[in-house]
Amino acid sequence: MTESSSFAGRHVFVAGGSSGINLGIAQAFAHAGAHVVVMSRSRDKVCQAAEGLRARGAQALGISADVRDPAAVEAALRQAHAQFGEIDVLVSGAAGNFIAPAAELSPNGFKTVVDIDLNGTFHVLRLAYPMLRKPGASVLNISAPQAVNPTMYQVHACAAKAGVDMMTRVLALEWGEAGVRVNAIAPGPIGDTEGMRRLAPTAEALAQTVATVPLQRMGKLEDISHMALFLSSPQAGYVTGAVVPVDGGSSLRGGRDMRSSYVPRSAA
Ligand code: COA
Ligand code: NAP
Repeated sequence: MTESSSFAGRHVFVAGGSSGINLGIAQAFAHAGAHVVVMSRSRDKVCQAAEGLRARGAQALGISADVRDPAAVEAALRQAHAQFGEIDVLVSGAAGNFIAPAAELSPNGFKTVVDIDLNGTFHVLRLAYPMLRKPGASVLNISAPQAVNPTMYQVHACAAKAGVDMMTRVLALEWGEAGVRVNAIAPGPIGDTEGMRRLAPTAEALAQTVATVPLQRMGKLEDISHMALFLSSPQAGYVTGAVVPVDGGSSLRGGRDMRSSYVPRSAA
């Protein structure tokens, strides 16, 4: 089975797929022959992303919806289902993050990140469930090292992504009988992404980050998309409930200290 034929004609839906790591995943599936839907808030971003996928020869659709709005998510999924049929691969990767000490984080700041990362993932998965191919669908959540590494100034992301990991395991239990596998990828620091621009905003912080990675380099988009293709392929047909770090070994060292990267908003 070659990479370009393995997902031919499959329907891949990527929530949060208009940029960064998730767009990299969408591009890899498009390259492998899938029909791809990218969904995120910005109409401009989803249109541009879908155009880029079509330019690579894929059938692609961009749909604007906020994962915090279940009605909008459901409408997006219905539109995708009408266009491409049952969903073979569902990726849930919409997220928001910033560096903030807990004592200075407003209730709404905490809630916003939990609503996007954790509650949004629940909405995407639960509302997609009736439209997933059964048996055979693969669900992939995008987690983060914060799910397992207590990380200062990241209480919101740590709490949200820990919930995503547990949701991955619980739904693997619940949906296994229907032949739906549920896994997650926990990327390490991936170069040239919005996440890293926020968490390591200076050259010094980036250098410190690389120094903590046993493989001594930043991750690339392909490092993540290759794992996404593998976990969704028949070769991983006996893998479910797994949260797979793709991080150059960095999670072995625990959470990065982000205090030196923190800029109070009043000073920004
Ligand atoms: N530090 C502390 N609090 C912050 C903050 C920061 N840097 N940025 C936002 N907040 C707070 C806001 O003050 C607000 O709380 P308040 O009402 O008590 O003032 C709350 O978070 C919501 O902010 P808002 O800007 O209204 O949210 P939004 O829904 O428009 O945007 C974010 C969501 C804040 C997560 C925004 O950064 C975003 O859209 N991120 C997506 C891209 C991203 O983060 N990529 C990396 C993924 S890892
Ligand atoms: P990114 O480019 O900002 O990706 C986030 C995506 O989610 C964007 O497409 C964004 O598009 C969308 N999104 C945000 N809020 C949304 C909402 N409320 N509803 C719908 N879509 C929303 O950042 P990234 O760094 O590539 O991160 C992608 C994923 O990888 C995230 O889950 C992140 O936690 C995880 N991760 C990243 C790293 C890293 O090194 N970058 C490390 C570990 C984990 P819109 O703005 O159009 O909504």
